[in-house]
Amino acid sequence: MSDFSSSRQAFLQDVVSGLTQSPKSLPSKYFYDELGDKLFQKIMGLEEYYLTRKEFEILEKQHASIMAGVLSKTKSFNLVELGAGDGLKTKILLRYLKRKSEVNFTYFPVDFSGSALEELQINLEHELPGIQVKGIQNTYRGSLKIKPWENGLPNLILFLGSNIGNFTLAEAKDVLTHLSESCKSGDWVLLGIDLKKDPAIILRAYNDQKGVTRDFNLNLLKRINNELGANFVLDEFIHWPTYDPVTGECRSYLVTRIPQKVTFPDAGISVNLEAFEPIWTEVSRKSSPEEIENLAVEFGFRVCDIFTDSEDYFANVLWQKV
Ligand code: AVI
Repeated sequence: MSDFSSSRQAFLQDVVSGLTQSPKSLPSKYFYDELGDKLFQKIMGLEEYYLTRKEFEILEKQHASIMAGVLSKTKSFNLVELGAGDGLKTKILLRYLKRKSEVNFTYFPVDFSGSALEELQINLEHELPGIQVKGIQNTYRGSLKIKPWENGLPNLILFLGSNIGNFTLAEAKDVLTHLSESCKSGDWVLLGIDLKKDPAIILRAYNDQKGVTRDFNLNLLKRINNELGANFVLDEFIHWPTYDPVTGECRSYLVTRIPQKVTFPDAGISVNLEAFEPIWTEVSRKSSPEEIENLAVEFGFRVCDIFTDSEDYFANVLWQKV
């Protein structure tokens, strides 16, 4: 089977499996096709979406302190990034490291989206020539299992942008198990985590005025229609984010106003949606500093440092494998 047909098959299977469960859900990793990548870029520039801005502020102001933890121990290492995206924030670190002639590193961006990875590689060749870049197209878990970067040197694994938040706590623990198992003693992890805060601020970030997040959410169904030949009636869906301050879960749903019978010709299956039945499409989990500390300990890391922005909205935490 070609790569295309096997990834299409996996997509179809994941979609059908999510829609035949109760309550219905779809995996958020499929948001990121070419249009999804563009819409997410737009989201990152939105006034309401503070996450990118805040993490950018932390990295801009504190990159030297963040890197000092690593550079005081080694001058040669692998810089692995899970979910690299456009690498805009990482470029702050890359630029800084490039300026340090005594530092040797290879940058391994990992992304599920081939188009995002390709764009990043071309962009880095132009903006930061001379840096060794080896892109890896894979999921987080997939890449952590095979560790294509492992060459005996210390690893610094970046997991920025609150990407870990796009897993339920149980799933995040599974990813952290893989992450911990992939690390040698002394390896570092730099995690970007969105902090618990005023629920209104969080909800606004996922329900922007211009409706970009709505389009991003709906693009998932559009993609399913285009690639899997399904027939969701997109105009009948409401974008509905919720936030639970106890679990820290901000969830996005798509709720149909009318009953819909959605057919998947290649699977020979149709799925019935009742009026106002929700499809859960995404979780964006927020954490408290105490929860972050507990996770580090549970997965065999020690917290070296926690860096936050001026309003304590977002944190970049540096962990080291014990
Ligand atoms: C990629 N990820 C961290 C974003 C988030 O905030 O959960 C994706 C996103 N979904 C809606 N807006 C942004």
